[in-house]
Formats: sequence, C-alpha cells, structure tokens
Amino acid sequence: MTVHDTPSTNLRDQLSDPDLLREAALIDGDWIERADMPVIDPATGDAIGHMPDCTAAETSAAIAAAEEAMKDWRARTHVDRADILMRWYQLMYDHAEDLARILTAEQGKPLAEARGEVVYGASFVRWFAEEARRINGHIIPSPVPGKKIFAMKEPVGVCAIITPWNFPIAMITRKVAPGLAAGCTMVIKPSDFTPYSALALGVLAERAGMPRGVLNILTGRPEVIGETLTASPVVRKLSFTGSTRVGALLAGQCAPTLKKISLELGGNAPFIVFDDADLDAAVEGAMQSKFRNGGQTCVCANRILVQSGIYDAFVAALAARVDALTVGPGTAEGIAIGPMINTSAITKINAHVADALAKGARRATKARDLPAQFADPVVLSEATVDMQLADEETFGPVAPVFRFETEAEALALANGTPFGLAAYFYTTDMARAFRFGEALEAGLVGLNTGVVSHAEAPFGGVKASGLGREGAQEGIEEYLETKAFHFAGL
Ligand code: SIN
Repeated sequence: MTVHDTPSTNLRDQLSDPDLLREAALIDGDWIERADMPVIDPATGDAIGHMPDCTAAETSAAIAAAEEAMKDWRARTHVDRADILMRWYQLMYDHAEDLARILTAEQGKPLAEARGEVVYGASFVRWFAEEARRINGHIIPSPVPGKKIFAMKEPVGVCAIITPWNFPIAMITRKVAPGLAAGCTMVIKPSDFTPYSALALGVLAERAGMPRGVLNILTGRPEVIGETLTASPVVRKLSFTGSTRVGALLAGQCAPTLKKISLELGGNAPFIVFDDADLDAAVEGAMQSKFRNGGQTCVCANRILVQSGIYDAFVAALAARVDALTVGPGTAEGIAIGPMINTSAITKINAHVADALAKGARRATKARDLPAQFADPVVLSEATVDMQLADEETFGPVAPVFRFETEAEALALANGTPFGLAAYFYTTDMARAFRFGEALEAGLVGLNTGVVSHAEAPFGGVKASGLGREGAQEGIEEYLETKAFHFAGL
C-alpha cells in the first residue's frame, strides 16, 4: 500500500464532538501536541492526522506523574473510584458514534463492528466499576494466641499497559478499568497504528473526573517507550496484548525489576465440527469466529477441522456464506470486511494462501479483484498439516478446512500447537461435549458457539498464548497484591 503523509481534516468534520480527536499525548493531565508521525487510514493509505513520538524523558515523566497521582487515587474509597468509572462508561455510550468513527478511520473495521467494539469496551468499565466493591480480603485464624492475621488486598502500583491495534478501545478498557478500580494508576501505550481511540478515551476519562496523572497516554514508536516502561522500578505491573514474540521480549525486559505481568498473546484456534453437529449452527459459528474484524483477532478460528461425514456439506455452506460477504472501506454501508491493517498483513495472508494452494488445497470460494489494501476472504478445502497456515496464525480472512475421521485424531490436531488461547467445537453428543471440552488445551473453549468474549468471563490463554486472565472476577486480581498483616498483642 502506498502511504501518503497528507493530513486530512475529514475525520474531525465527521464528528459531532471534534474535541475527541486529539493529535497529542496525555501526560500528567497535560495534552502534549506534536506532529512527529502520521496516523494512517488503512482503507486509503492517507494520513488522518499526526501524533507525537514520545521520548524516554516523556515516558519517565508519565511514570512519575502516575506515581504521584497514586497517593491520592489509592486512598480514595472504592465508591469514589467506581463513580468515576461509571461516569466514564456513560460517556462512552453518549459518544459511541464518534468513538466508532474514530476507530474505523484508524483501524479499518466496518462501522457496525466498531460500534460493537465500543459497547464491548464499555462493558469492561461497567463490570469493573461494579467489581470495585468486591475487593475483599479475609481473616485467617491465628496458630498462636493473641494474634489475628488479615489477608489484605492492595493495589499493585503504577501499571504499564501496552495495547494492540485490532481492538483499540476494548483492549484498553479490559486492562485499565480493573487497574483503576483496584486503586492503581496507568501509563498506556496504544499501538502506533491506532492512537486516536485511546486519546478519545482519555478525553472522556478527564470529563468523567479522572484526576490528573491517573491515566497517562503515550503515543509513538513502541521501542523507546516500551524499554523505559519495562526498565522502571516504579512500574510494578505490565499488561500486554500482542504477539508471543513481543510478549516474551517484554517479559524478559521486566525480569530485572520483577514486575507482575499479564500477557495475552497469539493463538492458533482450532474450530472442530463433528458429524453430529448442527450444520447451520456450526457454519454460523465459523462465520462469527473466523471473520470478526476480517480475521484479525487472537481468538479467530485459524484451523477449521471437520469430520469426514459432514465435510462436503460444511465446506459448501461455508463457501456460500463467504461468497456473500462484502469487502470495502469500513465507513461504507453494509461492509462485512474492511481493509487489513497494513501491507505486511496482506503479504502474510497471500503467502499462506499461495503455500496452501501449492500444497494441494482447493479454493472453494470465488476469487475477487480487490484493491491492494484488502484481502480476499477465502475458504480453502483439503487443508493439511504441512501447510504454513496449520502452524502460524494467519490473522486474515482465510478459512482452511482440514478433514478428520476420529475424535482422537481431532484432539491431537487441535492440541498439536504451542498455542492455547481459544478452541471451539460443535457436537450434539453431551458425553463427548464434556470429554472433549476438558481435553482441549486452551484458556477459552466454546461449545456450539463461535463467541467467547464477554466482560463476565475470564479471558486468556495457556501455553505460548500467555499468562493471566482479563475480565471477570479474575481480571481485577491481576492488579492486586495480598498483604498478610499479622496483628499481635491482642
Ligand atoms: C484479541 O484479539 O486480542 C481480543 C479479542 C476479544 O477480546 O475477543
């Protein structure tokens, strides 16, 4: 894709509240405006605007601001913190259309999906505002007389939050809301592809009454900011969503200062359909799981494994649905799949498809002639394990369908990967449902559903897919320490 560094005022003109679009970083309540780097609309390659490329000194200033702000923030009551979070949640709803437009402009996903992400993102803020009042410790019977032991929950400290481009709102709120509810303060580094959604959240947080320094947002290239955040002894926690490679790198950088870490990393999700499955439901689930955000999610089905008795019917039904998908700019009406995030994403997708076709896969869908920034949604039948897409996350709208005969074979294929984020399976045999669900090596298992993402449910992976859980009751624990307070002399 050709990238044009030409600022455009179009996006600002489309917003009912243009003040939400900030070409700045937020440090200690100050908006630092600089036009160091362009932010690109992936559908056109044109610049939407610019952002600062924050320096190590600015990163250190944000850390210092968060440390100072935490003195007051942690001392507040949970009710006070929850009230601010609830106002933030409400403001996200009030400005949902503007947030969705900003998101689509910088990320590319269709507006309908962007609206869905705003609701999904806001749900974490509400959930953790509610969870704030359930940060309970407990009292432990003492083994010696005259003593009581309290297990007390305390905020872990200043947190570094590094988020990806595929969910520019929800991945921030899923990390930041539990931390804020727990009494921590935040230094956020959004992806350099999608800073404006984060900054708009910053504007709304300010309006909700978030005190200065509690929420800092640094824009720019990841290396310097990431290194400064991970090296700082003041930062006590890192939460990262992104690739396994970068997650491992960041974990190494955090090791000398022994930070608490949460890592939500890559996946290679199997989507298994047994002969006894409800075919229509399985096809619907595959569409939801595979083509959400154009296939650019960590929980997207990467390998569709189908038992031989239902294989041909499944491939035909899935291909018909995929042929009906509309591809185009996310801002256009009725679009199902927007542009891919950048040229290297397209190159990888095309390489996976070419490799599969060269090794015997068959294209079950029509071929489309699309502009360079869009990927052709495709169903590939007769996929086999020697193909690149069996081992690597494609992160695009490619649905390879593998054939299997027995349950044991399906399990070996499903678990035969270093990753373990999501796994899905379709069956109407309840004994198999339990047996197979328990045997899957994944942090998230969907039985007869292609959707495993809700604020109420723990989200996270096993094996090379990461550490820790987000959302749910578990999500707030990641931002807490337990202090054993031995209270003697009673
Ligand atoms: C991700 O792709 O990292 C998150 C997807 C989700 O929350 O459903």
